Amino acid sequence: MIEAEHIYVSFKKENQTKIFGVERQQILKDVSFVIKKGECLGILGESGSGKSTLGRVICGLLKPDKGKVFLNGEPIGSRKKGEKRAVISVVFQDYTTSANPRFTVRGLISEGIRARERREKISLDREKEIDELLTLVGLSISYKNRLPHELSGGQLQRVCIARALAVNPAVILFDEAISSLDAHTQVQIMDLLKQIQERKELTYIFITHDLTSVTYLCTQVLFLYQGEVAEIRSVKTMGDVTHPYARKLLHAIFDVEAMREEPIDEEEILCAT
Ligand SMILES: Nc1ncnc2c1ncn2[C@@H]1O[C@H](COP(=O)(O)OP(=O)(O)OP(=O)(O)O)[C@@H](O)[C@H]1O
Ligand SMILES: [Mg+2]
Repeated sequence: MIEAEHIYVSFKKENQTKIFGVERQQILKDVSFVIKKGECLGILGESGSGKSTLGRVICGLLKPDKGKVFLNGEPIGSRKKGEKRAVISVVFQDYTTSANPRFTVRGLISEGIRARERREKISLDREKEIDELLTLVGLSISYKNRLPHELSGGQLQRVCIARALAVNPAVILFDEAISSLDAHTQVQIMDLLKQIQERKELTYIFITHDLTSVTYLCTQVLFLYQGEVAEIRSVKTMGDVTHPYARKLLHAIFDVEAMREEPIDEEEILCAT
């Protein structure tokens, strides 16, 4: 259903004194993967490994230097007239800035509904849609007139999930979407995401640096290390990872002390990649 083929991304280095030519920093190197419909792919990696950059490429916000992403066999971002295209919705970590502070909950979710109406060339009963979406994400419909600052972090993130669903996407990409919530709320939201996924037959991409949420929610896990795919595996066989970085990450979760005592052996990792 989603196929990424040999993705390369680089950015210009800042503060360059060179007059001829520009130096570029390679962020993603030859990233490829396949996700089937209904699966959840966890993208796991340390800060700066390129997870969000890969997320932006997947949903078509960033054009890669090389490589392509296909959704149901169509290149991402291609526009075919008169045809219903499948789309990817995104939920970001920073729900406070991704939700316009002057929009009410009704206004925020309506944005998504309008996008769906335009794409599918239909006209919906917006109030009814909003009520259904709020109920689906476990919020009271009486919240419709509230502004973002009148909601808790967990509630606002539920509104962002409702807005993502309003678009009627085939895939939802979550970029650290639950990372800034407390542990209890994280579990609640993950349970909610599981329920919604089953009910709507959605495919998820879940970017995180937290292994626990991957084991809870995902079927596959992609370990990203310095912009390269270190390993892709089924979550069920995650204990058998072979790449040193992936192993280190697993050990760190099961034995936090191990991480403190033995810093990652860069040389061992470089030899393996
Ligand atoms: N638009 C940009 N221009 C230049 N460099 C960028 C740009 N976007 C990202 N980078 C660089 O690319 C690298 C990877 O960034 P990215 O945001 O993908 O990391 P990440 O894995 O999501 O990290 P985190 O876990 O902290 O969110 C970083 O070194 C970052 O500075
Ligand atoms: Mg990121």
